[in-house]
Amino acid sequence: MDIHVVILAAGKGTRMRSTQPKVLHRLGGASLIEHVLRTAASLGPKSATIVVGHMAEHVRSALQTWPGLQFAIQEPQLGTAHALLQAERFLADKPGTLLLLSGDVPLLAPRTLTRLVHQHEQSHAALTVLTANVEDPHGYGRIVRLEGRIARIVEEKDASPAERRIREINSGIYAFALEGLFDTVRAIDARNAQGEHYLPDMVAVLRRRGRHVDTLVVEDPREIRGINSREELADAGRFLRQQKNDELMAAGVTIEDPASTFIDPGVIVGTDTVLHPFVMLEGRTRIGAGCEIHSGTRIVNSMIGDGVAINNHCVITDSRVGPGAVVGPFAHLRADADVREDARVGNFVELKKTSLGSGSKAMHLAYLGDATIGSHVNIGAGTITCNYDGSRKQPTMIEDGAFIGSDSQLIAPVTVGKGAYVGSGTTVRENVPPGALAVSAGKQRNIEDWVEGRKKKIP
Ligand code: UD1
Ligand code: CA
Repeated sequence: MDIHVVILAAGKGTRMRSTQPKVLHRLGGASLIEHVLRTAASLGPKSATIVVGHMAEHVRSALQTWPGLQFAIQEPQLGTAHALLQAERFLADKPGTLLLLSGDVPLLAPRTLTRLVHQHEQSHAALTVLTANVEDPHGYGRIVRLEGRIARIVEEKDASPAERRIREINSGIYAFALEGLFDTVRAIDARNAQGEHYLPDMVAVLRRRGRHVDTLVVEDPREIRGINSREELADAGRFLRQQKNDELMAAGVTIEDPASTFIDPGVIVGTDTVLHPFVMLEGRTRIGAGCEIHSGTRIVNSMIGDGVAINNHCVITDSRVGPGAVVGPFAHLRADADVREDARVGNFVELKKTSLGSGSKAMHLAYLGDATIGSHVNIGAGTITCNYDGSRKQPTMIEDGAFIGSDSQLIAPVTVGKGAYVGSGTTVRENVPPGALAVSAGKQRNIEDWVEGRKKKIP
């Protein structure tokens, strides 16, 4: 059967106390709604409609890169049933199953949705509600059962004290038969504590009409947690990280202190790599096998080869580090920096759009920008590529085996030839031919007994 997805994301998210729409808050490297979209995409739906309302344009523009999304506007926001009605024009007369998701329930596993849809289609129900048994049901709609079967859902604010003790809750995730759906939704009134059209009332309406309503109880209730406050956002983040860390440890990665190790869900780490406390691996980062990454390092969207050591407090973004290389402590690699095999980058060295060839070293205090550096080059302490001429970025080439003495400046565009030497403190303004020595400072002068003379002048 065809599956269509609708995601509710029009609400204000008052409890977040934010100027941003709730569904755009970030969790494990993606916004809440992107998590939901990813899970939905795993089912290969025929269509995906997002109901937006509060700050609709923000939500829409944040999702620009997602192809094929349809947006329905809900203005004003009169409740979750009213929200679903806004998607009617995209779905009227379509056959199949409607999977209704909440933009603020980001942790659902794809296999849970697959099970929900499967059971729903097998049982020919008009509606299947995903539910969970939880320790603390506070804030959720409660599943009221009669003779074991779901009879209705009652919201916290409308529940009697006895109903509040029910620990089976509504996840806000539903599978509906599309046929006749919108007529039933229209039958939902707003006679409740919040004066809203509640989608969970579909259960009672359908039961009254003699239709079959089913439930599926989720195995792990943590999956269906909704994010309504900053505290719940932090909790969900902790849960995601724990899942990721557990998965990596099971695959042979050592994580010394999982509680302080933050790894985004999409990151890949090879076996026998050791992660020390306070390491952050973000975005599409890939770390090879047998690496050691020390405390305080943050790596974003970067590729690290096998057997690499990243020492303390490095920041590496959008860059590559080849196998066997050693980086840090306190190094900054960014914007397509490319540290090749067995190269070494030491403390207070910044590489931007620069490749450092295999076996080359830049061990102390350097800025290397827009430079192509060959293999087995030595970059002395305090070397600076002066890559910006005031209007444009200019390239520097340093060929294989060259030696750049400490405290030198390379005024780009400039090339230092193969095996050439640049003396300490040289300002290199012209190309250095292969094998040459470049020096720019004048001859040193020593003034004998100068210190004694000065002392005599100052009484
Ligand atoms: C809802 C359910 C509750 C369930 C819980 C699970 C209702 C009335 N209650 O409660 O039974 O246990 O989810 O997390 O549905 N939204 C709109 N338009 C609106 C109102 C809400 O699009 O007019 C969207 C919100 O942006 C959000 C979702 O619907 O993404 C859920 O709304 P929310 O206000 O968070 O509902 P809960 O109180 O959590
Ligand atoms: Ca919610």
